[in-house]
Formats: sequence, structure tokens, C-alpha cells
Amino acid sequence: MDPMNVQEYEALAQARLDPGAWAFYSSGAEDEVTLRANRAAFERLRLLPRMLRGVRQANLQTTVLGIPVSLPVLTAPTALQGLACPEGECATARAAGAIGTLMTASTESTKSLEEIAAAATGPLWFQLYVYRAGHLAEQLIQRAEAAGYRAIVLTVDLPCLGNRERRPYPGWRFPHAVTGNFPAGRSSDDREDEALSWDDVDWLRSCTHLPLILKGLLTPEDAELAIQHGAAGIIVSNHGGRQLDGVPASIEALPSIVEAVQGRVEVYMDGGVRRGTDVLKALALGARAVLVGRPILWGLAVDGAAGAQRVLELLREELARDMVLAGLPDIASIDASLVKRF
Ligand code: FNR
Repeated sequence: MDPMNVQEYEALAQARLDPGAWAFYSSGAEDEVTLRANRAAFERLRLLPRMLRGVRQANLQTTVLGIPVSLPVLTAPTALQGLACPEGECATARAAGAIGTLMTASTESTKSLEEIAAAATGPLWFQLYVYRAGHLAEQLIQRAEAAGYRAIVLTVDLPCLGNRERRPYPGWRFPHAVTGNFPAGRSSDDREDEALSWDDVDWLRSCTHLPLILKGLLTPEDAELAIQHGAAGIIVSNHGGRQLDGVPASIEALPSIVEAVQGRVEVYMDGGVRRGTDVLKALALGARAVLVGRPILWGLAVDGAAGAQRVLELLREELARDMVLAGLPDIASIDASLVKRF
């Protein structure tokens, strides 16, 4: 068994995972229009390579908020990685560290943020959900600071859970999961705060000296507000098609946000990145880096930390080859002239 690409990891993961875990990982919201769009929109973009540039080897190194990474691919925060393999997020931390890239740990992780930090050999960001009990957010931020996380990624597209309907059979309910960051269990105050607003962004910034990244923006208007409210970065994302169905693919929303931001903060994207060519397209349209969600879960399901590492290696190998094929020596040489929609 030696999967050749990320899609083959997906097929193997589906065969191996418990049907409930598969449903949770793979689901989009409602009719999954946005979930499919995340892929379809990448496929509509065409690459315009340059020839005879004498590029023998491409240098994939870059930085995110000043942190060096070996390639412009980071891991996205995904909940409950322990459903994929017993080591859960600690396996992802080891995989990302081995590759030399950055992991974003979810608030809803199976392992605690401290366990993840102890397993990590590379840089970490902490993804924050704000619950109705606001002190939980302050506590999580303090814990993340103490454990050495380098930024807080505030997810803003989940005032309530999207309507995801995949399930192994009618009537199946998601089993109650105890998450690593709340070992004492959850109360009704631990649910998402629907009333989260830009004022809370100011409050959260006042709680930490770490840079604050907003994840889940899809419009230039919100990107402008994010900058006004002191965000250090923006992740253009539709939560892997799991929140409001019918929103654009992330790669479709990216250009107008990059245009509005004008380089004032770093812009990243996630959603549907499965190939080195997808990374190229996102960077050509102005992303500083991309994040991958489900591909890491598939790697974990197939072979634990080694599987997640292999998924990242496959993306690195593809991107390196694609850059040589396109005549691109390094990340800085990727620009808008590389992509076109015919
Ligand atoms: C997610 N995502 C997510 N985002 C977040 O901010 N906090 C979280 O806890 C989760 N949990 C989560 C679980 C699962 C199973 C999935 C698939 C996704 C969204 C995630 O960070 C990211 O935006 C998408 O997964 C990116 O799309 P791809 O790479 O999965 O296509």
C-alpha cells in the first residue's frame, strides 16, 4: 500500500474509518454545493507556465507571520482527530514538525493543547472558538500562550453549527465526545456564542500579545473590518463547505480580498487544496500560504503520524515538480500571470 496522491489517501481512509467518523469528516452543509465548489473552482483555473527558464530545482521555503516554513502548506484546525487515530492531534503535530511546517490546533481537539505542544517539534497556532461563557476563551488563550503557541486563529464563521446531514444511517446521532481541552465535560455555556461580534475581536486582542488571525472571511468588506480591528492575518475559508451552503469556493473569494487588503496583512486560504497545482493557483491569486484540513485526517486514518506526514510530503513533491514545470525557482516568483480563467 503506497498511495500516490491525496485522493488515494481519501479512498483508503473511507475504507478504514468507522462510518460515523467518515460521515463527520467528509460532510459538507446541506446540499454540499460549496463543498463541491471548493474543488470545481480550482479545476476551472488554468496555469500558464513559462518555458526555458533554466529552473532545475524549486525552493519552497517561505514564512507566515515571520515564522519560517519549508513549504506554503500548513495544517488547518480540524476537530476530533482522535477519531482517525489514537494519537490524534499529537500525530499531526509530529507530522507537521517532521516536514518543517506549521500546525493549527483546534479548540475541539481530542488531545489537550498542552499535550499537542509537548508532542510538537514545529511551530503551532491555536484555533479559538468563543463560547457563551466568555471566560473559557480567555483561559484557552492564556493556556495557548503558556504552551508556546505563536498566534490565535479566531474562527468567525461558526456562530452556530452548519446543517450537516451526512450520517451512516437515518437516526444515527454523533456520540458524545469529550474533548481534550475541556476534560471536565461541557455545559450549556460551552456552546458557540451566536452573538460574537467585532467588539469581541477587540476584546480578544486585549487578552493577548499574540497576533490574531481571523478565519472564515469571504468578503472584501469583512477583510477591511478585520484590518481595522487589528487582525494580523486573514484566512479566506468556508470551513470546508461545512457552514453556510451556497457561499463561494474559497479560491473564488480570494482575489477580491487580496485586492482589498493590498498587502497590509497576510492572507491565507483553505478549502479543497488537494494537489501541488492547487497551491500554485492559490499563491498566484495572492495567498501567502494554504491550509489543508481533510487530507491530514485521511493521512491519520490510513497510517497515523506517518500517513499525515506522507500527505504533506506528497504535496511538497508535487509542488516542487510543478514549479519546475512552470519555470518558477521560488515562492517569490509566483504571481498573477500564472493563472487564467478561459
Ligand atoms: C473542520 N474545520 C474546522 N475549522 C475550525 O476553525 N475549527 C475546527 O474545529 C474545525 N473542525 C473541522 C472538522 C472537520 C472534520 C473538517 C473537515 C473541517 C474547517 C477546517 O479548518 C478547514 O477550513 C477546512 O477543512 C478546509 O477545507 P478542506 O482542506 O478540508 O477541503
